[in-house]
Amino acid sequence: MSRKNQTLGEFIIENQSSFKYTSGELSRLINSIRLAAKVVSHEVNKAGLVDIIGAAGDVNIQGEDQQKLDVYANDKFIQTLKNRNIVCGIASEEEDDFITINSQDENNQNKYVVLIDPLDGSSNIDVNVSVGTIFSIYRRVTPIGTPVTIDDFLQEGNQQVAAGYVVYGTSTMLVYTTGAGVNGFTLNPAIGTFYLSHPTMEFPENGNIYSVNEGNYIHFPQGVKDYIKYCQMEEDNRPYTARYIGSLVSDFHRNMIKGGIYMYPKSSKATNGKLRLLYECNPMAFIAEQANGKASDGVTRILDIKPTELHERVPFFCGSKTMVNTLEDFIQKGK
Ligand code: AHG
Ligand code: MN
Ligand code: MN
Ligand code: MN
Repeated sequence: MSRKNQTLGEFIIENQSSFKYTSGELSRLINSIRLAAKVVSHEVNKAGLVDIIGAAGDVNIQGEDQQKLDVYANDKFIQTLKNRNIVCGIASEEEDDFITINSQDENNQNKYVVLIDPLDGSSNIDVNVSVGTIFSIYRRVTPIGTPVTIDDFLQEGNQQVAAGYVVYGTSTMLVYTTGAGVNGFTLNPAIGTFYLSHPTMEFPENGNIYSVNEGNYIHFPQGVKDYIKYCQMEEDNRPYTARYIGSLVSDFHRNMIKGGIYMYPKSSKATNGKLRLLYECNPMAFIAEQANGKASDGVTRILDIKPTELHERVPFFCGSKTMVNTLEDFIQKGK
């Protein structure tokens, strides 16, 4: 039984029996993510004081200028998972290829792979606005004890065993699911402990917030343009409120608490949108569905898309069910 103010450590142990596969391995894995999140949170919180803001000088596989904090968070999460020897592979938004762990060790019995967006919302770092981390966990599909292959990472989102995010906001929160609902934990930075502050999080069935980079409006498909105009129309509980932070984790977190829809459509500039299926859309879609919300690419359920490459991008619409359903109707009509 979860109870408010339970620590994350206590919660993980007490809820272990709800895991699809019972073993301490997944618990240890989530514990490692908890540790890395605390380290990154500490660094994010003093970003203005130390030499950690600004560009790192490299361009990542996504074609983006890496920020120093992108690199720092990537290193911290990878190091923590590697050092504890609890995963057999890691894929990251910031790495060209997946990382194989202990491929030479035939006794390596690790069953899980982790996919991660170490620092989400990089463009917000320098201006002291919330950023996040997103993670996704699968059981490997190739035999235990052999090196991981690309097949272990290109699994449909519906195969995730756990997913979550950390939001480094006014407070640091870790929100995650293992397929039995969504729970949120707030970090008390004075003692470095996460406490259950948001048990059983759920999207309201309907909402009145829409989140989209409207500066790209001219490039959006007709159905999305029509839906945005619908959001702005004076009728029923509309016009809706527009809120866009530019950091998926923060926009999602707000919409889950208040009720809303997040949209990153394809456009004439970006034919598959911008968000990455494996590091961003799948984990957020799993959390959304576990929280009574919905996530789609406008037509298809995100979790049923068969990935074909590591850094694949897809259009992403996610949030309160009624709002995503209406958006899909507009896309269907507008094409
Ligand atoms: P990341 O910082 O991990 O590269 O992700 C940025 C993503 C996402 O967080 C955000 O919602 C979106 O990019 C914002 O993109 P635009 O600036 O194009 O609106
Ligand atoms: Mn990036
Ligand atoms: Mn991101
Ligand atoms: Mn990122």
